[in-house]
Amino acid sequence: MANFSHKNDNFEELWSKQAENLPWFKKWSKTLEWNEPFAHWFVDGQINASYACLDAHLKNVDFKDKTAILWEDERGNELKISYKELHQQVNNFAYFLKQNGVGIGDIVIIYLPIIPQAVAAMLAVARLGATHSVVFSGFSAAALKDRIGDTQAKFLITCDEAFYRNKTIHLKKTADEATLNSPSIEKVFVIKRSDADIEIPLQPCDIVYDLLEHANDQNIVEPTSVESNHPLFILYTSGTTGKPKGIIHSTGGYLTYVYSTIKWAFDIKQDSIYWCTADIGWITGHSYGVYGPLMHGATIFMREGAPELPAQNAWWKAIEKYKISIFYTSPTALRMFMKIGNHIFQNTDLSSLKTLGSVGEPINPEVWLWYNDHIGQQMCPIIDTWWQTETGGFMISPAAGLDLVKLKPGSATFPLPGICAEIVDQNNIPVDNQNKGHLVITKPWPGMTIGIHQNPELFKQAYWSKFKNSYYSGDYAIKDKDGYFWLLGRADEVLNVSGHRIGTAEVESATLEHPAVAETAVVGIKDEIKGEVIIVFTSLKQGIAVTPELKKEIVQTIRKQIGAFATPKDIYFVEQLPKTRSGKIMRRILKAIVQGDQIGDVSTLEDGTSVEEINLIYKNFIQSIQQ
Ligand code: WTA
Repeated sequence: MANFSHKNDNFEELWSKQAENLPWFKKWSKTLEWNEPFAHWFVDGQINASYACLDAHLKNVDFKDKTAILWEDERGNELKISYKELHQQVNNFAYFLKQNGVGIGDIVIIYLPIIPQAVAAMLAVARLGATHSVVFSGFSAAALKDRIGDTQAKFLITCDEAFYRNKTIHLKKTADEATLNSPSIEKVFVIKRSDADIEIPLQPCDIVYDLLEHANDQNIVEPTSVESNHPLFILYTSGTTGKPKGIIHSTGGYLTYVYSTIKWAFDIKQDSIYWCTADIGWITGHSYGVYGPLMHGATIFMREGAPELPAQNAWWKAIEKYKISIFYTSPTALRMFMKIGNHIFQNTDLSSLKTLGSVGEPINPEVWLWYNDHIGQQMCPIIDTWWQTETGGFMISPAAGLDLVKLKPGSATFPLPGICAEIVDQNNIPVDNQNKGHLVITKPWPGMTIGIHQNPELFKQAYWSKFKNSYYSGDYAIKDKDGYFWLLGRADEVLNVSGHRIGTAEVESATLEHPAVAETAVVGIKDEIKGEVIIVFTSLKQGIAVTPELKKEIVQTIRKQIGAFATPKDIYFVEQLPKTRSGKIMRRILKAIVQGDQIGDVSTLEDGTSVEEINLIYKNFIQSIQQ
């Protein structure tokens, strides 16, 4: 059985060998400098991400016409862009950004939908040695403003419009709302999409980038050589407390990690036609939608719009049409298609598929089997990849490009080479197989975040202090009798809605923005399609009555603060939230109530609140709930 842990003693040597696959301008002098919890991989190595994704391939003359990006949208528009063209587009955009003052060390926010220009924008920023921070275009103005505020970015890239589910989304307008009260922003670059013939309402800081007007094949910008640990990007993700954290990723370590893991797990090759359905606004879109496949010279497919438009079989028709060979998606999406029914595959040829991936949440065995039978037609390995924004790339996953182990539906199998994963109890003692525990990583790896923007202490505290000398993932896991890893979901207060991470604290503070709300607690409960959905418990300020309008308003407040994807499934109004003696909200009680479960083991409730007390609180609480 290929459990790679025997190779992990030499993990530095392994990563040094892997790094040799990348086009460095200057080789590193030391593989790893480790000052727990800060890793500096490939010290003194010089590299540029845009060069590694584009220029490095174009040295080979045969490569020029090779397709880099295939794109379509739900309205039937299509684009095909070669590596040579993408290189030129990136240079055009980098030239424009440079002329407008963007340079090494700047942070540039990117707020764009799934269009080729989003990829070009990321690579153009990287080309200049600047750091991008992509904000998912489904985030609200308030969420965008928070991220701008935390980065103190001077520059923002957006576009006039996006299109989703037959609707035009005025992205620029949302960006305006966010930037109006963001004093750090000096310039907003507005990409004018050729199919939008509306006038962009211009603010004084706006500069329009016209794809046709700014195209000039004389615009060549030399890639800026950066040290390996130079921040390639910052990506915000939810945690247990406060606002989302700006996870920083390096250039050299991150690229090495993504390059290796996509090859190992997915067996990606130059001739692969690769589709990662994640939005570029999430880590999956960064590592395995853009950087990983482009470094391998593969063709990426991108699709803007709803999966069920223009027809319910749109995704599968796209696989047939573009001859997708590697398909990477989430269990949520698969569950949605399962529900629609298998008739949608009729007359669809999926035989181009070679490898299927899954990410974002545990994949239930029945979904795994359906994926295997109906999409893979039992010919493609299912690669269930467990990882996180903070890990940069896959950590636990089968490896179609190495020695593929016998798969078990629902298990992510084993840690990849160089990854030292353990399952431990509260006291950091490894648990025996078949016992649930906390998943920790005991050695650094090159994809590991280099820290939290503006908050190095928080990185220590949130990830490296719960278990000594280990990275705390926040996930529960179990190894079965054969040592296979099974991921069991979050151990902390982070929700996973359709594979999107949302902190309960984030939704709670969004709810509190409504003036009628006095106190609130948010829990996630299981959902057949989305994996988990948000339930809000709230107590209102004195004298305020519960009305259907108020409920709607609170929902709107949450959507406005975070984005539509954080819409709660339900809101329960209560007189008082159930609390322990020391005033801690008893979320377990809340969760049990909405799921109709028993309260469960209450022995670990701190502070001596007795079981009788808890039962009484529970009884009183149930009586007070109004919907
Ligand atoms: C969950 C997404 C089970 C997990 C790449 C993790 C998974 C969180 C899997 C990270 C998987 C991701 N099986 N659970 N294959 N993949 N998760 O940062 O709880 O958006 O901690 O990164 O998603 O979410 P994030």
